[in-house]
Amino acid sequence: MTKRNGEKGAGLKGAVFCAYAFVLFDACAGHQQSAVDPAGPQSGKIAVLWWFFFGLLTTIFLIVMVFTLLTLTRRGHRSGQEPLNASHLPPGADEKELTRIVAAATIATVLILFVLLIASVSTGKSISELGDKKNGMVIEVTGNQWWWHVRYWNDDPSQMLVTANEIHIPTGRPVMIRGMSQDVIHSFWVPNLHGKRDLIPSRVTTEWIEADQPGIYRGQCAEYCGLQHAHMALWVIAEPQAKFDSWMKHQLRPASPPGGPTGERGKQIFLNSACIYCHSIRGTAAGGQTGPDLTHFGSRRSIAAGTLPNTIGNLGGWITDPQGIKPGTHMATIPVSSEDLQPLLEYIEGLK
Ligand code: CUA
Repeated sequence: MTKRNGEKGAGLKGAVFCAYAFVLFDACAGHQQSAVDPAGPQSGKIAVLWWFFFGLLTTIFLIVMVFTLLTLTRRGHRSGQEPLNASHLPPGADEKELTRIVAAATIATVLILFVLLIASVSTGKSISELGDKKNGMVIEVTGNQWWWHVRYWNDDPSQMLVTANEIHIPTGRPVMIRGMSQDVIHSFWVPNLHGKRDLIPSRVTTEWIEADQPGIYRGQCAEYCGLQHAHMALWVIAEPQAKFDSWMKHQLRPASPPGGPTGERGKQIFLNSACIYCHSIRGTAAGGQTGPDLTHFGSRRSIAAGTLPNTIGNLGGWITDPQGIKPGTHMATIPVSSEDLQPLLEYIEGLK
């Protein structure tokens, strides 16, 4: 391996390490991703069901283990004294008594399964009754290999916002997620807010979510959808209505590129590159639809659907070697000269 290749390999390892560290950091610190730490009414009901299953099944497991140990120790005491053809019945038991015990255990098992079934169905039913069907907000989420297209539905088309990989919602207000897929089956899952919901090509699936308290909740595609399934994350940012409104107002504005000659040069480089065939930046001639909308890219937390933190250095790595960071990604490698790269990065990161 040449020195240059060796350096590239080390750079790649660094980027991959950074990606895993980012996922780990996000999962462990501050940003929640837990089904047993509910932040909304839907996940609250799921958590109650989860703890009920856990408690009941743990009790059954312990009872079975106690009886198993008792039987083993009793058999241990008896071994050595039995003739080879001895009956396997416990001492003092007869065939009829054993039949009764097995029958009772079977009935108990069926009853317990029935209780679990009723608990599960009634939780599902009470979750489906949640959500304000009339005044709720509607957000369309479309799964793509491997990122999330997000569109805030509004009867007035000029108020319809398109963004990617990050969903802002107001707290205390029901939000309907209309799930769709552009390619294969994905699954929308934000554990702190709700269970999993498949996104199926040519079909619309819906679910209501609601956040009781402000927070940043990590979501993850929960259906294997190809090579980069694990790098298909998203964030739901729940904030008070007033803060959400000002976020929405800002996001609806066209891009406001950074001032100065570098920003302007970066914009020209972007508009003259192949980037515009896939990406949109509202307020410019870039109108591609196959990749994430970049209008306010600089305001987002991550690059490539949760693969890397959104920093200028990571964006440089992502643009110059997308396959090294996310092998199999449909992001094209666009040749950018070293003089052009810095203004381009400053322009895209400046789209706050
Ligand atoms: Cu999309 Cu897994």
